[in-house]
Amino acid sequence: VTVAVIFGGRSAEHDVSCKSAASVLRFLDRTRYTVVPIRITIDGIWLVGTDRPGQQVDVDALHTMTPEDPHQTATPIESMFAALTALREVDVVLPCLHGPYGEDGTLQSVLEFAGIPYVGSGVLASATSMDKEFTKKILAAEGIAVADGVVLRHVGDIVTETDRVRLGLPVFVKPARGGSSIGVSVVRDWVELDAAVAEARRTDTKVLVEAAVPGREVDVGVLEQPGGVIEAGPTLEIGVGSQRAFFDYEAKYREGQGTTFTIPADLDAATTEALELTALRVFRALGCAGLLRVDFFLPVIDGRMVPTVNEVNTMPGLTAMSQFPRMWQAAGTSYPDLLDLLLRTALH
Ligand code: DAL
Ligand code: MG
Repeated sequence: VTVAVIFGGRSAEHDVSCKSAASVLRFLDRTRYTVVPIRITIDGIWLVGTDRPGQQVDVDALHTMTPEDPHQTATPIESMFAALTALREVDVVLPCLHGPYGEDGTLQSVLEFAGIPYVGSGVLASATSMDKEFTKKILAAEGIAVADGVVLRHVGDIVTETDRVRLGLPVFVKPARGGSSIGVSVVRDWVELDAAVAEARRTDTKVLVEAAVPGREVDVGVLEQPGGVIEAGPTLEIGVGSQRAFFDYEAKYREGQGTTFTIPADLDAATTEALELTALRVFRALGCAGLLRVDFFLPVIDGRMVPTVNEVNTMPGLTAMSQFPRMWQAAGTSYPDLLDLLLRTALH
């Protein structure tokens, strides 16, 4: 089976995607899969590389992956067509991309046109799941708890006095279509709001101002089997080191920041079951396929922990440090077996 691993991409999470791809290329079982690595540069140039199985994949080498054929560097559109031509030899694509132009339905649309099977969610589920405004609207309509928030669509939109009173402080200010906490800030005093919104706008024109949800932070992975049955993996609790204000970019990807993962989370049976059932409901409500990581907070309301969705990831981080591979490892599915399952489901 020949699989194209597409990585890099035009989003702010370009570097994270390269790290995810480095792990994927390292763990893919080469006795079953032949790999065509395809890197999309931050400027949208597609570069078709040559796989070198058995070699330790280093992320810097992926960053600088250069085309074997100089024609590939022409323009984004020419390079994309050249890469799509290379996909003629490919059975399945693993879109190992995070953020816009990869995780948001745009790449999925190209693959639909080309008729090439791919891992993960389709166009609509990818697009809605990438956008925190629409994710929350769909989930709220299903009766699933989400953080209260305000959407700032245009420059000049404001958080009214009524909204400020309702949301309280602190609030989290986020790009609506971002990831890895890039552009996210905590605002503890309303005088800091404008600067936080400006920071988020560097990533996205649409910005969310969300009430902080107090409570423990727990992620749940969902996987689809080749027959279509979906299962929730073990709960993973995130512990944030004292030097970080929240589970931000540094806490996610830099060693030595005091981040801890506890798998399964130390929770009572009823809360664990509620988390797993909610994760499966989220997967179905958003119309996802293949895989999903659902990120929760657990505020205590009337003495009960209520799973409250913070956000979802249709292509969760697959770096060696990331939650998704580690959850499934704890459940007895190794990284190579996880990749094998994703690819078999995509090909089913
Ligand atoms: N958006 C990053 C990759 C994650 O959620 O893991
Ligand atoms: Mg995310």
